[in-house]
Amino acid sequence: MSIRVVQWTTGNVAANAVRAVLAHPDLELVGGYAWSADKAGRDLGELVGLDPLGVTATADVDEIIGLRPDVVLYMPLFWDVDQMVKLLEAGINVISTANFITGRSYGDADMKRLHDAAEEGGVSLYGTGISPGLANALALTVAGGVRDLERISIWEEADVSVYESEETWNALGFAQPPDTPGLAEGAKARQLVFQDAVEMMAAALGVDLDDVSHRLDLGLATEDVDLGWMKIPKGTVCGQKGVWTGTYNGRALIEIGLTWWLSDKIEDGFASDAHGHVIEVVGTPSFRVVSEILRPAMVDRVTSTAETAHAAVNAVPAVVAAGPGLVTVADLPLITAGSVAR
Ligand SMILES: NC(=O)c1ccc[n+]([C@@H]2O[C@H](COP(=O)([O-])OP(=O)(O)OC[C@H]3O[C@@H](n4cnc5c(N)ncnc54)[C@H](OP(=O)(O)O)[C@@H]3O)[C@@H](O)[C@H]2O)c1
Repeated sequence: MSIRVVQWTTGNVAANAVRAVLAHPDLELVGGYAWSADKAGRDLGELVGLDPLGVTATADVDEIIGLRPDVVLYMPLFWDVDQMVKLLEAGINVISTANFITGRSYGDADMKRLHDAAEEGGVSLYGTGISPGLANALALTVAGGVRDLERISIWEEADVSVYESEETWNALGFAQPPDTPGLAEGAKARQLVFQDAVEMMAAALGVDLDDVSHRLDLGLATEDVDLGWMKIPKGTVCGQKGVWTGTYNGRALIEIGLTWWLSDKIEDGFASDAHGHVIEVVGTPSFRVVSEILRPAMVDRVTSTAETAHAAVNAVPAVVAAGPGLVTVADLPLITAGSVAR
């Protein structure tokens, strides 16, 4: 029996998710939800740059529920808790890449609604992506070789200029003067899901953290930058280093560092050749893992998010089989590639 999958929205991540669902031997694509009114009624394949698939996108949530999917791959730019609750209560598993790991960063009330809805619907709710998501799972897996763990650090470095979402970067304070009121608070608020990731990792390790803190350094453009889809005036924010630190017994136990830059016309210390994650696991023994994402020479806005989509699609069988409620990677069996090249 195939697992019936609905693709929610048709953006960058979704374009990869559809390809991964089609490639997966155990999954069947039965429907698609379109957020943009002009995409409803169109073929899902065409909307993600493929030949027609015979699956028509709809903007009607009830139509999606009527398809009786086992799982929705929930990949909108901005999440809608009412929608998620409705799907879960209808008995549909939800896998989200939209800033979801535990739901705590959505606020306590919404987190409770989501957890209750999943239990009521007898289904699971899971969030993933590359980061947060796969990077945290990788770090926890490496820590499986360690005793007397002292620290896990995940250092992410990314030239994010392939991620053509001006809305996303503006929300984080990019292209704004560094003294813009509320900039640091806004950037922190938009990245709160990384606090959830720190807490998820602590829970997997069985510890209660004293505290999770955030530090933000800003890198300014050294000249005017025009990315074609976004302009960054000289002297405004062109890169950021954010570090989330989970403290246990007064010392840093879990660190997630995020260094993102939109151009190398930036102050020293921000742009590099690296793209991926360096994971340090300190204990007996210690590990250092370099996880570099190697892309095709021609990176476009779609291929730049493939790993996020794949982390979601490859988790489908495990999430559908899991017990009701919130599940994190610590609750699931090994998730690996769902399709093997012939
Ligand atoms: N955890 C990770 O590592 C990771 C990495 C990358 C992205 N993400 C997250 O994954 C999600 C999808 O990313 P993406 O790059 O695919 O995004 P995107 O292409 O910019 O947008 C995805 C889709 O969201 C819908 N949309 C557009 N404006 C919207 C709005 N104001 N409210 C609700 N929906 C809207 C559109 O759907 P239609 O096409 O149906 O009109 C759009 O195609 C985002 O939440 C992003 O933050 C996570």
